[in-house]
Parts: sequence; C-alpha cells; structure tokens
Amino acid sequence: MASAYKFVDHVYDVVVVGAGGSGLRAALGCAQAGLKTACVSKVFPTRSHTVAAQGGISASLGNMGADDWRWHMYDTVKGSDWLGDQDAIEYLTRNAPAAVYELEHWGVPFSRTDEGKIYQRAFGGMTKNFGEGPIQRTCAAADRTGHAILHTLYGQSLRRSVEFFTEYFALDLIMDEGACRGVTAWKLDDGTLHRFSAQLVILATGGYGRAYLSCTSAHTCTGDGNAMILRAGLPLQDMEFVQFHPTGIYGAGVLITEGVRGEGGYLTNSEGERFMERYAPSAKDLASRDVVSRSMTVEIKEGRGVGPNKDHIFLHLDHLDPAVIHERLPGISESARIFAGVDVTKEPIPVLPTVHYNMGGIPANYHGEVLTKVGEDNDHVVPGLMAVGEAACVSIHGANRLGSNSLTDLVVFGRAAGLRAAEIVKPGEAQRDIPDSLTDPHLARLDRFRNASGSTPTSTLRMEMQKAMQEDVAVFRIDDTLQQGVKRIADVYDKVADIRTTDRGMIWNTDLMETLEFDNLIGQAAVTVNSAVNRPESRGAHARDDYPDRNDAEWMKHTLAWLDAGTGKVSIDYRPVHTYTMTNDVSYIPPKRRVY
Ligand code: FUM
Repeated sequence: MASAYKFVDHVYDVVVVGAGGSGLRAALGCAQAGLKTACVSKVFPTRSHTVAAQGGISASLGNMGADDWRWHMYDTVKGSDWLGDQDAIEYLTRNAPAAVYELEHWGVPFSRTDEGKIYQRAFGGMTKNFGEGPIQRTCAAADRTGHAILHTLYGQSLRRSVEFFTEYFALDLIMDEGACRGVTAWKLDDGTLHRFSAQLVILATGGYGRAYLSCTSAHTCTGDGNAMILRAGLPLQDMEFVQFHPTGIYGAGVLITEGVRGEGGYLTNSEGERFMERYAPSAKDLASRDVVSRSMTVEIKEGRGVGPNKDHIFLHLDHLDPAVIHERLPGISESARIFAGVDVTKEPIPVLPTVHYNMGGIPANYHGEVLTKVGEDNDHVVPGLMAVGEAACVSIHGANRLGSNSLTDLVVFGRAAGLRAAEIVKPGEAQRDIPDSLTDPHLARLDRFRNASGSTPTSTLRMEMQKAMQEDVAVFRIDDTLQQGVKRIADVYDKVADIRTTDRGMIWNTDLMETLEFDNLIGQAAVTVNSAVNRPESRGAHARDDYPDRNDAEWMKHTLAWLDAGTGKVSIDYRPVHTYTMTNDVSYIPPKRRVY
C-alpha cells in the first residue's frame, strides 16, 4: 500500500501548522530569528478563523482610565475559576500591552479615542482595582479586530519570508521515540503528499467547535492538531471545559460580539425584564460568559424565553445612538441583518448561548512547549513540539476564558514560541532522513478513508456526533445525560469502521477531507465527554446540576485524557494547577496613567 503513495520531502528548521493569529505570530517570530520557517495551512491564511474575532484584544494600556496588569491578572485567574496556571497568566497579562503596541506598529488599524490613542471597550469579567467594577480594557478595531490583526500578521510574515504551503491539509506528526521530527500533509489542489522534516513543529490548529451542532466556529475548526496529538499517544488537557458564548444569533449560531454589551447593549426575557440584574447585580450584562450563558438558559428553562417557542432571548442595542453603532459595531449590524433579518437600530437581535471556544487542548507551558506526564514528572517537555493559540491549553483560561483574552493569548504566546524557538533551534542544522516506517501509518489512515466502502456516509456520523454533544454535553450537565453522551459518542466511534466515502481521487477530494476532519473530531468528542463525566463538581464552563459547588479540595487540578485510537477508550490522569506566579514581585504600586 505504502508504495502506492510517494512523498515530496521538505526540510525546514521550523514548521508551523496553522495560519491564524497564533500560527502567523509564531512563524513571524521564528523567521525574525533567522530560522527557515514553513507555515502549512488548510485554508488561505487570511481565511483562518481568527478573521471572525470581533470585539477585541485585552491589554492593560490604561487609555480610558487607570489600569494595571495585576488587575488584568486577577480578573483572569478569577475568570478561570482558579483552574488557570498563574505563572502563565502573569506572563500573558504582563506581556499584553507590548504585544498590542507591536501590532499597532505593524499596522493594525485600531479604533481611536479623541486623543488618538487605541480605543478600549468594556468586556465581561474585566475589572479595575481587583474586582471593584467594570473597566475598558479591550482594544478594538471596530468589531473586526481579528480581521485587522490577521491581515497585518500575514503581511508581516510575507515581509519576513515565511514560506507558505497554502491548502495543505496536515495529516499527522512524525514521532520518533517520544520526540517530534516533522509533519505530513496532503496538498489539496493537486493531490500530492508532503513530508516536512523539522527541528521544531508548532501546532497552531485552533479549536474543535465543530464537534457541536451549533457553534460560532468556522467549518474548518476541527481541532486537527489536537487529534494528531491523540494519535501520537499524547494527552489533551481540560477538554471538559467548553465555552458557550451568550450571544450567538438564534438559529444560525453566528457570533454577535460581547462588545455590544460593552457598548451598552443588554439582554431581556419575554417579560421585557433585564434579568441579568437579578443574577449578577453588580456586573449585570457584563458578567463573565459562563454566568451569562447559564442565566439565559435558566430564563428559557423557566418559561421566560422569547419567540413563539419561548426558546431564545433578546439582545437590545436599539437604544444606542445609530452613529455609535455605525462606527463601532458595523460588522454585527450586517450579520444581524443577514442572519436574523433585524435592523439593530430598531429591533432586538434574537440570541442563544452557542459553543464558542475550547479552554482545553494541548498541554503547554508559557514558552509554547508541549507537555505530557511521565511518571512523577507532571511537566515533561515533548522534544521538537510546541502548541499555541486555541489548540493549546497553557493554561491561562482554566475553566472559563474571559472575552478578548483569546486574541491576547494568540499574539503573546505566538511571540513566546518564536522566542523559545530562537533559543533551542539551530539555523540549518542537519536533520536525519525520516524512515518510511514513521510515516507509513499516516498513509494507511489516509488510504483507509479514501477507499472506505462501508454503509454509513460521513455526514450521517458527523450529525449523530454533533447532536449528542449539543444535547448531552451542554451548558448544564448531569450524570445521566453525560453517561448517555458517553454511550452515544462511543456508538458513533464504533461506526467509523463502517464509514463510506465515494470519491476515490486525490485532487480536491472534499469527501475524503471531511472524513479525515470528522475522524479528528470524534476522538476529541470522546475525550471531552469522558472528561466531563469524570469531574463531579461545577467550575467555570463545566456546570453540573448534580454537583453545583466548586470542590477545590479534590478537583483544583487539570484533567489529562489519552485516547486509544483503536478502541475509542479514554484514560484519565491529572496535573496540578500552577498556583505560583513567575515572580516574587508582590509589591503593589497603585497605577498611574502609564506612558509607554
Ligand atoms: O464577543 C466577542 O467579540 C468575542 C471575543 C472573544 O471571544 O474573545
């Protein structure tokens, strides 16, 4: 079989898989360090999912009043429901302002204050003076911040001669005695296969929102890097923590930015009540996402939803000045018109909590290095492998990510990965040839799905998986439904043996690509539901009706989950949370207006 396929071989110092914000920032950093850097992406870089990020990027610039990175750190630790690693959160929040100024200098067209400074808006869970009240910390380019950042980073990467392999679908990691030596990929437009040998592979492959039926994620968000990690026999971390964004457009799932509530928008139920005042009297509509999503779900469950079926909620911005909407929220005005038929200056938008972000992913330290557990070593570094962005679990978001901390995560840790690469990778160092025995299993998997002649089309299995995840691993969870989810996902996993594809070609074979993506998703669905049933407490986005309290004594620890790809069985272990900071710098200096 293997001889039926031939690889085109490439040798690079670094190969980055994924060309969203974190992948581009990492690739750019590696190239700046003089490393021969390839960036492999299944879509054209500026179509990566970062393009959909709307509201902004958090950093304590203090442009709209005093701010301090320690306040930002406090909010992020608290928002994570104490599951975030505090050394990594310190790294994030201390480095955020510099990362934003770097983007500004590279050309990101941020919105401006009257004084010409970067405009910052309020976002959920972002507070001043250690929880005292809301703060404007989220730097925005209208409501198209991700779009602006992605285009700027792509331009800068080209300037630094990053070599792009566009519309190459990554297949698997080339692992050799516990170390990563490269990655294989399928070039979609001509059907050729490619083997990239590298001193370092950086996975920047994003989340796996498409394991669910309704999500704000692009169709490309299939967690391909996470699945490669599982097939390499490595664990994923904290996969039970799946974030629901409170305001996906009802029926379409399309994102309506939290920036709407940051600009003064609010939610109402069927009685016209601003119900968030009851659930979070101080933060109200700007409480953290897990709180708002749960409150909306309770309102609907208790019969106070809106619409003929009382199954959603209204988001109002019709009281705002149309000029403000036009200037700061043009993108969501268009989305609301197209996907809900609503003129936001006159009517509320129908919204519903929708899967938005995966806090879990590939365990990594704040340098981007991938970690696993070996014996008593909880932080064992996997040589030759890094992970950044939503694919990674550093873990700065812990059990719940604060809105606008994602774009910060992408650029701060993308940059950190580049800095680490500069230390550990030697430009041009000779690499041993890759023996076929290391890549034959990659070809066997491709060939199996290409020629799969069972009786169940991929789309049927994908729908079964998405419905099971949506219904049984939802905003609120209980043992019964989670157990049911474990069984439903295991059944789908077993049916993969009976999958049917019909296109046997290699050129633009979307049937095969979707099947490989589905195979990636079902493994992640299995570790997600098994990790969720295994955690009998409520923490952040993991809300168990049968265990309503957080249980720090027993469960303030990260879940690690391994998948046996042959059987679909999941095994679980744990890593301690880093409750220490990077520095002993505890001296608190009251913030002044900062000048950089
Ligand atoms: O609501 C939003 O604009 C989303 C931002 C985020 O997820 O960070």
